[in-house]
Amino acid sequence: MKGDNILKISVIGGGYVGLVTASCFAELGHTVRIIEIDNKKADLINAGKPPIYEDKLKGILHKAAGRNLSAQSHYDGIEDSEIIFICVGTPPQDDGSADLRYISSAADSIGTALSKSDQYHVITVKSTVPPGTTESVVQPTVLKSFGHHSSSLGFCMNPEFLREGRAIDDFMHPDRIVIGGDSQNAIDVAQKAYERLEAPIITTSLKAAEMIKYTSNAFLATKISFSNEIGNICKKIGIDVYDVMKGVGYDHRINPYFLNAGLGFGGSCFPKDVMALIRLAEKSGEDPVLLKSVIDVNEHQPGRIIQVLSRRIGDMKGKKIAVLGLAFKDNTDDIRDSRAIPVIEELLQTGATISAYDPMATETMKQVFPDLMYHSNAGDALDGADACLVLTEWPEFSDLKDEFNRMKNQVIIEGRKILSCSGIEGVCW
Ligand code: UGA
Repeated sequence: MKGDNILKISVIGGGYVGLVTASCFAELGHTVRIIEIDNKKADLINAGKPPIYEDKLKGILHKAAGRNLSAQSHYDGIEDSEIIFICVGTPPQDDGSADLRYISSAADSIGTALSKSDQYHVITVKSTVPPGTTESVVQPTVLKSFGHHSSSLGFCMNPEFLREGRAIDDFMHPDRIVIGGDSQNAIDVAQKAYERLEAPIITTSLKAAEMIKYTSNAFLATKISFSNEIGNICKKIGIDVYDVMKGVGYDHRINPYFLNAGLGFGGSCFPKDVMALIRLAEKSGEDPVLLKSVIDVNEHQPGRIIQVLSRRIGDMKGKKIAVLGLAFKDNTDDIRDSRAIPVIEELLQTGATISAYDPMATETMKQVFPDLMYHSNAGDALDGADACLVLTEWPEFSDLKDEFNRMKNQVIIEGRKILSCSGIEGVCW
């Protein structure tokens, strides 16, 4: 590995982003301290057990815990750290704008904890925050509780581009690393943390780094809604949108990624970040018509699979519908903003009975819909079903074949094009 700079790093927040970031920095050789206010989570992390599921995380956390990674629920000791990453949540408020209360509280605690230190520290925001937040919220809050010589603190904004389920690989092999900073000194320290990774580093202002993150997510979400709109048109005129996007994606100016049509985007980031960007635009006096349409297409996509189902089987009252796939995408147990939720809600309104299966997300979905019939494999969920909806792009669903013979009627509709057997209809193909 290249680079000899071993840093002492603190990471505030042991959620998805914080835990992956901390574990990967430890894997790169740095000494990492996680501040996680939930004692139970901190204990699990110290025992090398991830409190969340993320592919490859268990291995690197297990290796690092008790060696060069530790977790605690208080801020004592962070004054040892050259760099402190803020990785707390920025959930949506009722109007869609980002709630910055955890950011402010972390900034306040950091300032207080560092107030006795005479070392240089760089406070780096990794959470997704609206442009201007590091400058107008984090910096003044830290400095207020820090109370003296502001020149011994630097500020950076370093957005994450980690996909759930693939976050470790995304961290270790990034397309780029974006570092916004208030000074070259601060940027230099943040850059050292990533020295062992091979990736272009883009240095910029704090505000531009914050905007890069929102813009990246909004652009990817736009690609998906664009493909879905094209898919909806294609379905009306009998064309397979996957054939179309294959031909389109080969153009290197477009590229083939995030052109997969289906039920739309879910998860904890795209819906929340596009809405926050819309609110930010409106507060700045802009009417972001394109971004609003991206959300609009996304909201209507789940209803389309119900329309296809209703055209195929008529009245759904009392019918048994197998729902395969509950997670917001494959390789995760996360159901936040999963497209399966509005689909199940609509099915329940029609009086249908739902027989559900997901390789990982059953337990989490039980908290939202406790009364569905949950199964431990796809075959059992399909048994005696009048129709089946495949909602999440789990690879194991592509191998399903004989299991469909257990259905009463083989009406199979997929929300992402993944099934290989014949006679399948798609939501927009
Ligand atoms: C997304 C971004 O991809 C990450 O770069 C970013 O760091 C992260 O948000 C974040 O802001 O923290 P994630 O939400 O984990 O990552 O998931 P994606 O793999 O991007 O998928 C998002 C949604 O879009 C899923 O519901 C997925 O099924 C859907 N999708 C994705 C499509 O419908 N079509 C596609 O072609 C691709």
